[in-house]
Amino acid sequence: MKIAIVLGTRPEIIKMASVMDEVEKRGHELLLIHTGQHYDKEMSENFFIDLKLPTPNYNIHVGSGSHGAQTAKMMEGIEEVLIDEKPDILLVQGDTNAVLAGALVASKLHIPVGHVEAGLRSYDETMPEEINRLAADICSKLYFVPTKESAINLVMEGISRKRIFVTGNTVVDACFRNLKISKNRDKSEYSQGLLDLDIDNMGSILTLTMHRAETVDDKERLTNIIEALEELDDINIIFPIHPRTKKTMENFGLFDRLNNLSHVHIIKPVGYLDFLLLLSKSTIILTDSGGLQEEAITLDVPALTLRYNTERPETVSAGGNILVGSDKELILENARKILDDEEFANKMKSAKNPYGMGNAAELMIKIIEDANETDTLKVLA
Ligand code: UD1
Ligand code: UDP
Repeated sequence: MKIAIVLGTRPEIIKMASVMDEVEKRGHELLLIHTGQHYDKEMSENFFIDLKLPTPNYNIHVGSGSHGAQTAKMMEGIEEVLIDEKPDILLVQGDTNAVLAGALVASKLHIPVGHVEAGLRSYDETMPEEINRLAADICSKLYFVPTKESAINLVMEGISRKRIFVTGNTVVDACFRNLKISKNRDKSEYSQGLLDLDIDNMGSILTLTMHRAETVDDKERLTNIIEALEELDDINIIFPIHPRTKKTMENFGLFDRLNNLSHVHIIKPVGYLDFLLLLSKSTIILTDSGGLQEEAITLDVPALTLRYNTERPETVSAGGNILVGSDKELILENARKILDDEEFANKMKSAKNPYGMGNAAELMIKIIEDANETDTLKVLA
């Protein structure tokens, strides 16, 4: 079979890595299309190196831009490739603009779309990601959902149960396949940012990431978060900063305010192996990232999520994740409990990972093979 994958951003590369491995391991032809939405070495190329991934067959080089312009460029580029290459199926992952563009284009060309990480819902349509998820799920034919809860969301929207497969999340594949590799490396292989910090000897660590439009494009929210971080001065805060966040914090005049704090270490985004190491050594993860909420519970690290809703409610009900929004008091209260109350921290750490066993990609490719053998793929197209 010829299996096409469209991806364009850091989390898609990480979460599709095991799928690419399985496609090749099981003897299929992989057609890899990179939209070019993320283009800095630290946001794209480094992940291909760390995860030993093949060079994309095509890069559309869309770069940054408004949602409409960026999605339109992706659609034009993806359409051209799909018409030439005629894959048997197109896989998209998650909720970025690449997912929207890929799913729309392929479905109109009658190429069946498989949505990896389908069925997530925040029910917050002010988020561009929620629009992308909804639209991609309308265009998809096979739904690979991480949990039973995501399957139920799709069934409630009228999707046939026969097309929904609970596989777990490929982020668990990524964590399990790479954690040992990450820990067994020689220190000389760490990025300069981590080497300079000497993370093995620096004491307790809070890892911070934030990049969502609703968090980092809002000066008031950012200011509240920074005020909380100023008070958390008895823990090392490591902040691999997303390029979007660096730009907005500089524009708001907030970058230096945070960077000048002696317990805060702002570094460039790091590669996946470095990041897994950092997570595994963290006492708290403070984030608005989707993938990190999943990785935190997979690696037994308590997560505080800088949002008021989440499309990953399983992490909250399992007890490993608390939504703190950008509320200074909530951030401080919960961070203090994790730092000072061992019982509370241990309870968060022991939350059960709801995202499967780390074999999501293998299950997916077997399901696709079955659908192909029984001609279901052709019927679905
Ligand atoms: C995108 C996804 C988001 C995902 C995130 C993962 C959409 C709508 N958003 O958000 O769902 O969680 O990726 O990180 O698809 N920039 C650079 N270098 C780069 C890439 C971006 O400097 O390599 C800067 C540019 O100023 C750009 C800004 O970051 O305008 C935002 O980039 P963009 O790709 O539009 O969205 P993300 O915030 O990265
Ligand atoms: N990540 C990384 N290096 C970093 C920050 C994050 O490798 O400096 C990884 C992290 O482990 C997770 C993914 O990037 O797998 C999350 O990406 P991001 O937060 O950009 O996107 P989201 O998951 O919110 O869509």
